[in-house]
Amino acid sequence: MTHTLPHTSTVAPVSDELSGRFREAMASYPSGVTLVTTTDEQGVWRGFTATSFCSLSVAPPLVLVCLARTAQCHAAFQTAASWVVQVLPFRRADLATRFATRGADKFGQGDFTANAQGHPVLEEAAAVLECDAYVRHDVADHTILVGRVRDVRLRDDPPAVYFRRGFHALGG
Ligand SMILES: Cc1cc2nc3c(=O)[nH]c(=O)nc-3n(C[C@H](O)[C@H](O)[C@H](O)COP(=O)(O)O)c2cc1C
Repeated sequence: MTHTLPHTSTVAPVSDELSGRFREAMASYPSGVTLVTTTDEQGVWRGFTATSFCSLSVAPPLVLVCLARTAQCHAAFQTAASWVVQVLPFRRADLATRFATRGADKFGQGDFTANAQGHPVLEEAAAVLECDAYVRHDVADHTILVGRVRDVRLRDDPPAVYFRRGFHALGG
């Protein structure tokens, strides 16, 4: 069930000043960096860089990620039965830039292999979470994608941290 609160029914104008301070506040919040990947209805691999990834529950094991509805890959995630989250190691932070670039050749460098569902998986990821689509919610200009984790693989490799618009090593 979705509870829509009264104040969400009208779009109140947001001042540039608040918008700027909101962006700065979010930039000062450190987060891990993920690539989220799937396959579209034509069988083409799709993916994007996401810092909006987080866990939602343990039983069942649920995670969520928020995807802008303007993203080119949005249609693929809107219909995908499953998708994959890869936690980026710091030494592959270059991929975060590639996957955040609209129109880039994201999978052309041979970094990915296909999983059982045919979706791209980065073998070098610090963690891979294979997810079945559980529920989707459109909120404002994003879609919240909730996935039920089906399988997890871990690799002992220090993760990338995104902080103040830059990629950092833990403790670096
Ligand atoms: C560090 C970083 C984190 C990002 N996190 C998100 C996110 O959580 N959700 C989102 O929709 N876009 C996010 N983006 C932007 C998308 O990765 C980017 O717009 C991407 O190109 C969208 O996919 P498309 O190429 O299919 O349009 C992020 C970008 C960067 C650099």
